Amino acid sequence: MNRKVTKAIFPVAGLGTRFLPATKSVPKEIMTLVDKPLIQYAVDEARAAGIKEFIFVTSRGKGALEDYFDHAPQLENELRKKGKDALLEILKNTNMDSGEVAYMRQHKALGLGHAVWCARRLIGNEPFAVILPDDVIAAERPCLGQMVDAYAETGGNMVAAMEVRPDQTSSYGILDIDQDMGAVASVKGMVEKPAQEDAPSNLAVIGRYILNPSVLRTLNKLKSGAGGEIQLTDAIAAEIGEDRAGVYGYRFQGQRFDCGSKSGFLQATVAFGLARAELRDELHEYLESMLAYRNAAE
Ligand code: G1P
Repeated sequence: MNRKVTKAIFPVAGLGTRFLPATKSVPKEIMTLVDKPLIQYAVDEARAAGIKEFIFVTSRGKGALEDYFDHAPQLENELRKKGKDALLEILKNTNMDSGEVAYMRQHKALGLGHAVWCARRLIGNEPFAVILPDDVIAAERPCLGQMVDAYAETGGNMVAAMEVRPDQTSSYGILDIDQDMGAVASVKGMVEKPAQEDAPSNLAVIGRYILNPSVLRTLNKLKSGAGGEIQLTDAIAAEIGEDRAGVYGYRFQGQRFDCGSKSGFLQATVAFGLARAELRDELHEYLESMLAYRNAAE
């Protein structure tokens, strides 16, 4: 099997109910960390990893995403006239060329596995990446790029992995480790959102995957699993076993933010704000004074 990964699926059909009322009219993937929508972080990471085709699995009410990735000639003209080259350059990264991007509707919210399956005809018979834009990862070398390198060595299927607190296993896909080789661990089982007492480890799947096309064939016949949803975790788990391609967890370098939760989103906002040279000093000073004020009040 060829190990070049050039296609990525971005499941963006979720309702984002945790962020209501904001998400009543704005897709949650358009919500911004500092000045960049969550989806742009995901796309930038994919491009840096060599992805050439971007497949968004959307749902009703996600039109703003298509507009976001469209060219904006009027806006660009205005900026050009005013000589705002830096802004023009920023806008360039948001443009997708025709044929490079595809939108596929998931008509019913049947789960992550189903969302990925909706893109099956656009994938064909080659390995592909899946990126969940809720998981934002700050890293020197972007996470998917790290995985593409590791995958070139291992083949099989690869999921990003991170140790979580034992009481958090019920929020994640959890890996049952076979051989632990440090950054890479081969996996002998995967469970979606197990209770703490049932979890085979505390090594959790984070939203980056490099998958074999046979996962899509498994999804063809998969029944619903945890939470009554068609789970991607279950389809990946079917890749484990003799004569199968195998599954590897990859402990990436970097800091992951759960931007599907309010507190994760706020933490990411602070972290990305502090990472920006033009904002750092003022934000830092503000945070310090805020904390001093709170400490004094307690
Ligand atoms: C999904 C996956 C889960 C994974 C998680 C990572 O769950 O089903 O296996 O650990 O993403 O963020 P969700 O958070 O969409 O419920």
